Amino acid sequence: MLRFDILTLFPGLFCGVFEESIVRRALDMGLVEINVHNIRDYAPGKHRITDDAPYGGGGGMVMKPEPVFLAVEAVLGHPVASKEALEVPVILLTPQGRLFRQEVAAELALLPRMILICGRYEGFDERIRTHLATDEISIGDYVLSGGEIPAMVIVEAVTRLLPGALGDPLAALKDSHADGLLEYPHYTRPAEFRGLRVPEILLSGHHAEVERWRRREALRRTWERRPDLLGRARLTEEDRQFLRELGADV
Ligand code: ADE
Repeated sequence: MLRFDILTLFPGLFCGVFEESIVRRALDMGLVEINVHNIRDYAPGKHRITDDAPYGGGGGMVMKPEPVFLAVEAVLGHPVASKEALEVPVILLTPQGRLFRQEVAAELALLPRMILICGRYEGFDERIRTHLATDEISIGDYVLSGGEIPAMVIVEAVTRLLPGALGDPLAALKDSHADGLLEYPHYTRPAEFRGLRVPEILLSGHHAEVERWRRREALRRTWERRPDLLGRARLTEEDRQFLRELGADV
């Protein structure tokens, strides 16, 4: 069982996304638990203020530290003496974090639980970074209005890796990026659609030949579309040979 606690100022954004498909199934099967907490509930004072102007001036608003610290402590059930002592990873979603890749999803899928903190406004008070977060993750080099969609991305990418989450236990191993390559092309019936034929090899029934074709198409596709991935992919000598034929320097 993997437990996610998501801290956000907009809990309503999470309505629906986890209620269908794989995540829903994983919830129903008890593979994951997802709790969404409103940071505003932990803001002191009548007005429950969660942001304030930056010291030193300049535009924008900054997320105050206290509501976020209190929310994390409420979720943990004890005060945070130091982040080094935290037994649960506290992950900030921010464009300044390490890039979320399939390897990171695989790493998180091994954890028993994690806390995801979604930022809003121009940013977090730096003390949240330095004294509360144990990790910072970005889902890509672009800026969103908050960490909510990134948190959904992480929950979905991690959940589908949990044993039992996918109907086919081998499906996650075949996905694009699972072995560092993009996936080979897929075809289904009919064998001819508007004059477009399915590659003959797939209709041949030669299992080994089909596998060889798929591997080569995955390599070709990765070389054509994302050559940057080849440096990290697990390649055999035969793979390298094929890529060299395509003009890759591997
Ligand atoms: N918050 C805003 N943009 C983000 C991004 N790209 N990744 C993670 N959190 C974010």
